[in-house]
Amino acid sequence: MARILITSALPYINGIKHLGNLVGSQLPADLHARYMRARGHDVMFVCATDEHGTPAELAAAKAGKPVAEYCDEMHEVQAGLASGFRLSFDHYGRSSSRQNRELTQHFAKKLWENGLMEIRTERQMYSKADGRFLPDRYVEGICPECGYERARGDQCENCTRQLEPTELIEPRSAISGSTDLELRETRHLYLLQSKLRDRLRDWIDSKQDWPVLTTSIAKKWLDDGEGLQDRGITRDLTWGVPAQFPGAPWEGMEGKVFYVWFDAPIEYIGATAEWAEAQGLDDAAWRRWWREDEGAGDVRYIQFMGKDNVPFHTLSFPATLMGSGEPWKLVDYIKSFNYLNYDGGQFSTSQGRGVFMDQALSILPADYWRWWLLSHVPESSDSEFTWENFQASVNKDLADVLGNFVSRVTKFCRARFGETVPEGGEWGEAEEALIEELSRRLKAYEAHMDAMEIRKAASALRAIWAAGNEYLQSAAPWAAFKEDPARAAAIIRLALNLIPFYAVLSAPFIPDAAQAMLAAVKAEGTPWPGDVKEALAALPPGHAFTVPAVLFAKISDEQRAEWQERFAGKRE
Ligand code: MF3
Ligand code: ZN
Repeated sequence: MARILITSALPYINGIKHLGNLVGSQLPADLHARYMRARGHDVMFVCATDEHGTPAELAAAKAGKPVAEYCDEMHEVQAGLASGFRLSFDHYGRSSSRQNRELTQHFAKKLWENGLMEIRTERQMYSKADGRFLPDRYVEGICPECGYERARGDQCENCTRQLEPTELIEPRSAISGSTDLELRETRHLYLLQSKLRDRLRDWIDSKQDWPVLTTSIAKKWLDDGEGLQDRGITRDLTWGVPAQFPGAPWEGMEGKVFYVWFDAPIEYIGATAEWAEAQGLDDAAWRRWWREDEGAGDVRYIQFMGKDNVPFHTLSFPATLMGSGEPWKLVDYIKSFNYLNYDGGQFSTSQGRGVFMDQALSILPADYWRWWLLSHVPESSDSEFTWENFQASVNKDLADVLGNFVSRVTKFCRARFGETVPEGGEWGEAEEALIEELSRRLKAYEAHMDAMEIRKAASALRAIWAAGNEYLQSAAPWAAFKEDPARAAAIIRLALNLIPFYAVLSAPFIPDAAQAMLAAVKAEGTPWPGDVKEALAALPPGHAFTVPAVLFAKISDEQRAEWQERFAGKRE
């Protein structure tokens, strides 16, 4: 049994996330967590809301609420949606927690003690119209790297380059739109990341098995040097982790907080500490996941994120952990994703374009979305959500193949043999061939799941479902029943046994349907299959079952057209 630590990028608190956000981090992380648990591993899966920084402040201002209150409310909303999508976090924390504050201040102190921080006087954007400094996203302008016109002061969304507000061309205030900006002096803590360049390069070079998407982004910013400049990690803001605190080895940082990208990844650790507290456990319980000297030596740590987050996880956060001089667990594997587009364009939070998590669940159950999103995850390139494709995939894979199989088998058995697994008859060549095929396909499925090749895993699973359908079609128990009821019984016994087998394999993708399938055949707690032949004899003759309600309803053309129209523009 291995110990596996899984984190998904922390969603910003500033509003409900769209399906593009979901598929780029939390959902694939959940798939992996569920799979690893099913394989018997000891999993710690945490996430949290990312509550500090300018995204939170700007959103709270827009909602007309004090930022703390806004965050309390939005945390509940996001946690509710996460559970609606069946994201199986061990803990869904908050970066505004006491644990994160303490850890963030601890890391800053260690970095200072190790000579990796200093105070610098710098010139920051100040807006006369707004009467305040404008850090990060409070400034927008043109990206100096790629020319994208709506780059924000912290990062260009288009080319992933990390930015300083002063680098933007034609800068303007995101609060008022004012271009009457000037540079004023202010003092900040600087993290001397450049001193860690060689260590970071060696570390990244040692990661031969990482996805190309991850290493190419990391190396681009490492070699270019742009990603690894010394950076100010404090801001002239009030909302955040205070930069001046009892025991701080510096002075004069009153009224300043740490930069959101400094404290946010530390919340991966913070969330695990919050988990321990919520469970009534002591600090050792979370430290064994994070401190190599306290038990984390044998932990495998995997992070999931969209490509725009990669520089922070390959450079900045590792710099914090390495620079502390303490044996914190570094990530072992980063699974990163491209973007999901929406119906010929981009998902847009500001324009309300696309489907948002709350809307998705209001029209269809989580499994429908989980299946489509995971089987079309933007792994090797950007991918696109279209309603036609969604409809086709739900109707075919879920309704026609899987749902229909379960329904036919249970209904036929009920009609001919009653609601227990029938006895009699022998398995012959067709059954041996099916078992051989399923054994082979199961191996392939496991290999893809182990490797986090999600699209390939989804196709392998689909092929496993299809194999059962094809078997049923050609074995034709309804025909066999007329001449040889015992033969029909043997076929149906196998087919009924495919239901828990499918449920267990499918649960990481479609947990609710899997649950319903297991409940129908009264086989909750069925383990992951080892030997396929044995697994397919798990329900013995005489074992009772019921016919489940329709597992997946088809999406009609009218529904599709209506939704397409409804989600095309402004969010209602
Ligand atoms: N909130 C960031 C985003 O949505 C991701 C933060 S991931 C972190 O892009 F853990 F590092 F915080
Ligand atoms: Zn750019």
